[in-house]
Amino acid sequence: MYLADKKYFMTHDIYTKIRKNRGPLGEYSKVAHGYFTFPKLEGEISNRMVFRGKECLVWSVNNYLGLANHPEVRKVDAEAAEKWGLAYPMGSRMMTGQTSEHEALEAEISDFMEKEDTILLNFGYQGMVSAIDSLVDRNDVIVYDSESHACILDGMRLHVGKRFVFQHNDMASFDKQMERATKIVEQTGGGILVITEGVFGMAGDQGLLKEIVDFRKSGKYEFRLFVDDAHGFGTVGEKGQGSGEAQGVHDEIDVLFGTFAKSMASIGAFICAEENIVEFLRYNMRSQVFAKSLPMPLVVGARKRLELLRTQPEHKANLWKVATALQDGLKKAGFDIGATNSAVTPVFLSGTVAEATNITFDLREHHNIFCSMVLYPVVPKGTIMLRLIPTAVHTLEDVDYTIQAFLKIKEKLDNGEYSNLEFADVELDR
Ligand SMILES: Cc1ncc(COP(=O)(O)O)c(C=O)c1O
Repeated sequence: MYLADKKYFMTHDIYTKIRKNRGPLGEYSKVAHGYFTFPKLEGEISNRMVFRGKECLVWSVNNYLGLANHPEVRKVDAEAAEKWGLAYPMGSRMMTGQTSEHEALEAEISDFMEKEDTILLNFGYQGMVSAIDSLVDRNDVIVYDSESHACILDGMRLHVGKRFVFQHNDMASFDKQMERATKIVEQTGGGILVITEGVFGMAGDQGLLKEIVDFRKSGKYEFRLFVDDAHGFGTVGEKGQGSGEAQGVHDEIDVLFGTFAKSMASIGAFICAEENIVEFLRYNMRSQVFAKSLPMPLVVGARKRLELLRTQPEHKANLWKVATALQDGLKKAGFDIGATNSAVTPVFLSGTVAEATNITFDLREHHNIFCSMVLYPVVPKGTIMLRLIPTAVHTLEDVDYTIQAFLKIKEKLDNGEYSNLEFADVELDR
């Protein structure tokens, strides 16, 4: 029934459950929105940005190499926007969206990554989902790490064949799941795709690529290896090729994903593989065949960023100077930073959700430090993870200041001072 006030009344309505249940994160929206979720960081992307009208030291942005505001990058972005606008090219690459700039960027990425061929993706997330969808069929089995990013899990949802998860970076568990997977493909005649990450973006530990590859080298299992190196591309490895390079197994990665959204501070992504696989992806990845090609300013801008990655090693050197000082300093001060071997720096504390919110509030309001808190289910119940992302534009003073502040909050946490506070006095702008 359609009423004059434009509201339908239905007995079976999907809105009924949605109105009642906002989802696992959405249920906190009333208390968190604008502060813990959807915070507005204003000003130029750098080590210092403005949060709720106050300047703070930001450790939450994946601008690893500090390219977001690099003058050459800003100039090229602006000139490309002026020259091309955001519309060109229209249509998908296959239909009407192909340009020489897109092809040139792909060739340059292949060259930099020392892989046979590359396909650009107009967003990393959809690209991963769609690549997984196109690479496997019902006869194939996927074996993947339990801490894989949502885009890998969503790709898995499209997979109609079997999938087995191994415990995060646990090679005994990997071995067991590979044995199960192998039995299945022996029956179906399919193959196994192993998917893991190069750098796990939450806790900063690298996927055990070398150990995984050793299983293939030893002849124990047959599989293809697909690595999502969103956080490793541009930040780890001598040349910045990522975790495979850092672990000496770059050539052993069959399908390698990287994004422009982190070290390159832009939008878009890519997959490198051997030529016939990339050719297959060009014609079969539904997210690319049925979606608009990357706009020209993003392509031209990515070419510039890649050039800087190659020719200005000082950005990666600065990132590591800051990351090393931060990680060494935190460890020396007695903090548990887990098993990170990338720039991502987690700080693990013990406490309740209420304590975590009070700590984050204290850091933001009284120390002017903006970092992200990560709670259950990403970390076990009772664990608080404060996640710091160092970048090339942070300074050693920023590092010292932050460690001192962390020591103060740790002391307060140990004294139980955060358990009685109420996060209630912040006026959220909604
Ligand atoms: C591990 C990982 N894979 C994929 C993505 C998605 O990349 P994009 O932001 O380019 O869509 C991200 C970004 O958050 C990520 O952290």
